[in-house]
Amino acid sequence: MSEVRRFGELIRGWFGLEHDDSRLDLLAEVLRARLEATGARDLDTYARLAGPEERRTLATRLTVGETYFFRNPDHFRALFEHVLPERVRHNAAARQLRILSLGCATGEEPYSVAILLRERCPHLADWALEVVGLDVNPDAIVHAERGRYGAWALRAAPADVVARWFRIDGRDHVLDPAVRAMVRFAEQNLVEPAAAWSTPGRWDVVLCRNVLMYMSPEIAANVIDRLGRALVPGGYLFLGHAETLRGRAGGFGLRHTHDTFYYQVDGAPAPEVSGAAPGGLGWIDEIDRASHRIASLSARPLITEVADARPAPGGAAPTLARARSLFEQERVDDALAELDGLPAATREHPEALLLRAVLCTNRGRIADAETACERLLARSAADPGAHYLMALCRESAGDREGAARHDRAAIAADAGFAMARLHLGLLHRRAGDVAAARDELGRALELLARDEAARLELFGGGFRRDALEALCRAELRACGGTA
Ligand SMILES: C[S@@+](CC[C@H](N)C(=O)[O-])C[C@H]1O[C@@H](n2cnc3c(N)ncnc32)[C@H](O)[C@@H]1O
Repeated sequence: MSEVRRFGELIRGWFGLEHDDSRLDLLAEVLRARLEATGARDLDTYARLAGPEERRTLATRLTVGETYFFRNPDHFRALFEHVLPERVRHNAAARQLRILSLGCATGEEPYSVAILLRERCPHLADWALEVVGLDVNPDAIVHAERGRYGAWALRAAPADVVARWFRIDGRDHVLDPAVRAMVRFAEQNLVEPAAAWSTPGRWDVVLCRNVLMYMSPEIAANVIDRLGRALVPGGYLFLGHAETLRGRAGGFGLRHTHDTFYYQVDGAPAPEVSGAAPGGLGWIDEIDRASHRIASLSARPLITEVADARPAPGGAAPTLARARSLFEQERVDDALAELDGLPAATREHPEALLLRAVLCTNRGRIADAETACERLLARSAADPGAHYLMALCRESAGDREGAARHDRAAIAADAGFAMARLHLGLLHRRAGDVAAARDELGRALELLARDEAARLELFGGGFRRDALEALCRAELRACGGTA
């Protein structure tokens, strides 16, 4: 086995993280850098010498920390309209509620919970509320504790919520100290069972979203088993949209409300199956709308911009929000002209680069699209959107292998990315690998049904969800699969 693959095995043992072939280049680069930094002459020496500090450094290099405030708003609706009211009724005597965000990255997830607790649950003011965020990446934990975020982290947050809970300081949004004080963070490696997360019967709710999808099946199943015990009877588990219980469904019941799925540990009163709660929570609906409106293409300076995203009165300075709005009206050339007119610094903003890459891909300006993607990837090597667009560019250049590599990188960064799976499925089919094609197309079909509207609008090449689903079904049938 090559040294890089053996390094991958080591990483799997230490962190549970699984690296498929699309990540071998990254592993090779990290291994090279760590051998140089530690002076170890080969992998065996490195493995022997790597103590806790070295492993912490590795965790900062090899984890994917993509997250943002109010990610997957349907989960938050289910949490605040069904799950917490039920737990609050149950815990009325003890007056305590314990919520864990496992794999919390830079803190946006547990802070979203804390903000909603402040906004929606004033009646719990005198309860013992425990919100804990744990992650293996020490840099992410430091970031979380600081409570300072760029605009991108708030792209799905409604403007009024941002105004209430954040103070602007230069380019940063500084979280209100009262919310910060509600969440406790700590470093924790999930491979190591520890009291911090796996004490039996401790948590009312665990959010472990978009974490297990990076893990080997055995480790993921082991974590789920432990979570089943760490939750109180009747406690709830939220996984990411693209994740499953990995065959460990025993002990959990599947719950489906608010257009989403989550799990409840057995031993609870029968669930009410509801849609949106009667009367709804206007505030959470607003998150939903906001996230659809600006999910992929907004940044904090844009929240003000979005407010004035109307057609430019003669001579008004170009804005990124207007470029986006022109794209939404399918005025591709006008949107590109708007981007060209942005100040140089804004043109290099990840939002602007991503939109440019989308527009150039739509126009067939492949070299320009690739340049924009490369710039994006130089800033954020795992950006799923940039990899997906790069895959389209590589395919148009006749480089199917490169295209498949970029699709796989997009999927490695975001396993729920329907368009990347659809594209990879089509590449497999063209290459005659029918089994792999069926696999990817089947996943794409499942994911298309629930992918965010804004993301489909951006990456769907002008096709609507139903058209993409129909394409997927037709391709599946052509591969002899069921659709
Ligand atoms: C994609 S982020 C998910 C963030 C957040 N839960 C969300 O859904 O927005 C995945 C996080 O899992 C963390 N992670 C990966 N392996 C881990 C491990 N062995 N123990 C604890 N955290 C881990 C990473 O450091 C990263 O911050």
